[in-house]
Amino acid sequence: MYSLLSFCLILCLSLSASAAVIDRRIAVPSGYVAPPYYPTPHGGWTADWSVSYHKASLLVSQMTLAEKTNVTAGSGIFMGRCVGNTGSALRLGIPQLCLQDGPLGIRNADHNTAFPPGITVGATFDKDLMRARGVALGEEFRGKGINVHLGPSVGPLGRKPRGGRNWEGFGADPVLQAFGGSLTIEGVQSVGVIATVKHLIANEQEMYSRMKNIFQPEISSNVDDRTLHELYLWPFAESVRSGVGALMISYNAVNGSACSQNSYLMNNLLKDELGFQGFVMSDWLAQISGVASALAGLDMSMPGDINEVPLIGSSYWMYELSRSVLNGSVPVDRLNDMATRILASWYQFGQDRNYPTPNFDTNTQDASGPLYPGALFSPSGVVNQFVDVRATHAEIARAVARDAITLLKNTIATLPLAKNTTLKVFGTDAEKNPDGINSCSDQGCNKGTLGMGWGSGSARYPYLDSPIDGLKARGAKYQFFNTDSFPSNSNPNPGDVALVFISADSGENYITVDGNPGDRTNAGLNAWHNGDKLVQDVAAKYSNVIVVVHTVGPILMESWIDLPSVNAVLNAHLPGQEAGEALMQVLFGEVSPSGHLPYTIPKSEADYPDTVSLVGFEVGQPQDTFTEGLYIDYRHFNQQNIKPRFAFGHGLSYTTFSFSNASITAVTPLTSLPPTRPIKGPTPSYNTSIPPASEAYWPDNFSRIWRYLYSWLDKNDADVAAKIGNSSTSAKYPYPDGCSTDQKPGPVAGGAQGGNPALFDVAYNLSITVTNAGNISGKAVSQLYVQFPVGISFDTPIIQLRDFAKTITLAPGQSQTLQMRVTRKDLSVWDVVQQNWIIPDVGGDYGIWIGEASDSLSVRCGTSPLGCVM
Ligand code: NOJ
Repeated sequence: MYSLLSFCLILCLSLSASAAVIDRRIAVPSGYVAPPYYPTPHGGWTADWSVSYHKASLLVSQMTLAEKTNVTAGSGIFMGRCVGNTGSALRLGIPQLCLQDGPLGIRNADHNTAFPPGITVGATFDKDLMRARGVALGEEFRGKGINVHLGPSVGPLGRKPRGGRNWEGFGADPVLQAFGGSLTIEGVQSVGVIATVKHLIANEQEMYSRMKNIFQPEISSNVDDRTLHELYLWPFAESVRSGVGALMISYNAVNGSACSQNSYLMNNLLKDELGFQGFVMSDWLAQISGVASALAGLDMSMPGDINEVPLIGSSYWMYELSRSVLNGSVPVDRLNDMATRILASWYQFGQDRNYPTPNFDTNTQDASGPLYPGALFSPSGVVNQFVDVRATHAEIARAVARDAITLLKNTIATLPLAKNTTLKVFGTDAEKNPDGINSCSDQGCNKGTLGMGWGSGSARYPYLDSPIDGLKARGAKYQFFNTDSFPSNSNPNPGDVALVFISADSGENYITVDGNPGDRTNAGLNAWHNGDKLVQDVAAKYSNVIVVVHTVGPILMESWIDLPSVNAVLNAHLPGQEAGEALMQVLFGEVSPSGHLPYTIPKSEADYPDTVSLVGFEVGQPQDTFTEGLYIDYRHFNQQNIKPRFAFGHGLSYTTFSFSNASITAVTPLTSLPPTRPIKGPTPSYNTSIPPASEAYWPDNFSRIWRYLYSWLDKNDADVAAKIGNSSTSAKYPYPDGCSTDQKPGPVAGGAQGGNPALFDVAYNLSITVTNAGNISGKAVSQLYVQFPVGISFDTPIIQLRDFAKTITLAPGQSQTLQMRVTRKDLSVWDVVQQNWIIPDVGGDYGIWIGEASDSLSVRCGTSPLGCVM
């Protein structure tokens, strides 16, 4: 028995490693496993998708083999106007789908808005703005004819402060990421665009995630089951709960198994436990096998090519998937489910009815050009129609940029500035890049005002309203020194205020900027361009200094933050195109700052756990083992009792707020385990016999574009494959024992999109009155953190964010009552033995802390006895 099981395990694990060569998975530290989970759960079993699945099944049942395989992959890198272009089935009215980056706006397009990125959105702590930006993004993507928006990003989570792509997401906390991600998804999808939540999962650093070679496979993030559920999977669960239509699987491996063929992640966690009904695409060229990835739950290969040498017309899928189905190595059932999931998403968002086709080209800014730039000989035509999709979205972009600005320090009421203040402005970050705002491809440089990081998550600016533009526009009295070294000709006059701009950048690994290959390897957590020295030099000369920071994440401020003349510090995050006016409104006091930190700012990098440093400088598969578990960012600082420079959630205002009348109401009675999950609804069923080989033959007289990816096979190849598949004597593909095609009832923690619906029952409602107790109008943020009862047998972080709410602009003396809630899941821990969310102490006293920052929680409500203490 034991040996049979281990045989199955080894085969399953081997399958996950490679389809072509069955070899062993590289060893990961003991205790970290990605157990095999087969088969892929069929999509369609939740009521909210049943109509779309029914429509999709009517189409799929009419599709030929080659039509089905054609919609499950891209037609090749640079083989169309978008970064990803699927094959079509025009006979049945199924168009090519256009997939396009990115999370903050349309990448490489024109007449689009460059919104602030996720980290800035997170800093607003404003759910309405999160959703409004999502709607605006959706309108722009739809306006350009894009079917699938490649955002939002909720992974990386921000475990590593140096990680290159943290700025694309919403902050170093799963609940902040979850609200940012799911409200964006709801906004984008409300206008019919399919959103893509990415990147599943634990892709916490850029280096070695995709720099794989024969000596060094992609990094393995080794994460224990509880940490995965309570931190990294949390925002994905909420995204699925919001009905997200697509998901992108990441480059790295998890627990030794490459994510793009990791059945534990895709079949088990995502499609069964979380009840994901949409389709899973690979990250670009992240797919490393054909059969194994199909069996493990991948539904779409992007951009379609093999990863080693793209652009030679080779694919793991397309014609190879047709072959694999004919020869019996990929069950027809699996292909049917892939195609159904993709078409169900297309129906779910109404894309079958008058959906626009692409009117832009990500590859060129010219009006006409090659239709397939990746082809050797491509027909040409009109590719850019320069459609203006911006409407009034600049207002939303500006509101996000402004309401994210986080006042970190403000002594002697330095801010707001009087209108007639004479300013001396220092730092190249205050003005646009003199070479041009879009002079660096994918924003791969840090020159001039930093509005976003670099990589696929960037967009071209239609314009960039810089801080200097803002000063000019309002006729401010200022002198600008466009340099990062203190100028010898700058001498203070009495009453002068110095404004110093500094920045810190990061991005995606395919571009290296100033020695930083995506992650901040070279810059560390320091300001770029000698920013620290600039602040120090200005502070040595001027007695009243304000520092403005544009940054992707935490920077170290210790070398200047306590200097006597550094009186105010604003973290303006990454403001996108609206940097200038947004900042001016705060500087001159038309609007009080209301942003809060979406991460901790430490005093020293050594204050983080050692395990969140960048790794991967050894030969072999780099192992990134998450031994700090739940203790990242503020969870770690609290556990170790380390006082940071500025705590997670910190953010001052020009006014002060008082919190009163807190109340807590019990809503749903709790039990140790949630009620039993609902059973799965029906899913489409199809004929599962191997189709005739003729369904994959090239059409007669077809004129091929060389290097383009097609799903057809030569007649002889198709016939040979079908002969193998239909033969009772040929060796069958070595499916591992136990890897049956019988659908499972699903894990106890599942039951609907996002998991067992009872997890989202409201356990307690909280309400609190916030009053503007100062003399200036402003918005307040109320943050809610849960503390588990003392004495439970699970080690849990001292406090964890679970909800937040923001007031409207409150005039002096004005009050608003805010509502927040705590769900069953918020009070649960993931029990790795029961594989379920459990309440560790049903009658215990949970502390529900409310306040303006993680280190400023003035109200404690308790669940036993029920009540609040101020
Ligand atoms: C790779 C990035 O990781 C992903 O986020 C992006 O959507 C694709 N490239 C397409 O550009």
